Amino acid sequence: MKHAFALLALPLTLAACAYASGPSASARQADVAEGRRLAEVNCSTCHAIGPTGESRNPLSPPFRTFSRNYPVNALEEAFAEGILVGHPSMPEFRLEPDQIDDLLAYIESIQEERGG
Ligand code: HEC
Repeated sequence: MKHAFALLALPLTLAACAYASGPSASARQADVAEGRRLAEVNCSTCHAIGPTGESRNPLSPPFRTFSRNYPVNALEEAFAEGILVGHPSMPEFRLEPDQIDDLLAYIESIQEERGG
């Protein structure tokens, strides 16, 4: 994973192109697998992004615990604005709306406990 930072920008660009050429972008289904890939590329250097495991950066809460603090959907706005909420040492992320959908669908899918 030591090349994760070098890969940061490129996959986002590629993903945006792929979606632009796809059918009706706004009506598409969120893609959990793509969300996982985005998390791996952009977030896993600090956060534990899977259903198990510890964060590499101990200050970063594991993704599976996000819903302890708030509904995962509440993150959508923060992501759309480029993030973030107390991310002092975090690079600014610019995600396309489709990528945010995918990322949230993935984060939702690995929550350890559900609010309802
Ligand atoms: C360079 C390290 C780093 C990277 C990369 C990173 N984060 Fe974080 N993130 C942190 C730290 C540190 C915190 C805790 C900040 C705090 O609570 O003060 C945090 C907190 C968060 C929180 C708030 C969690 C909570 O329960 O309050 C969210 C949501 C989040 N990160 C999402 C992401 C997403 C999505 C990505 C990838 C797009 C990402 N982070 C990439 C370091 C990082």
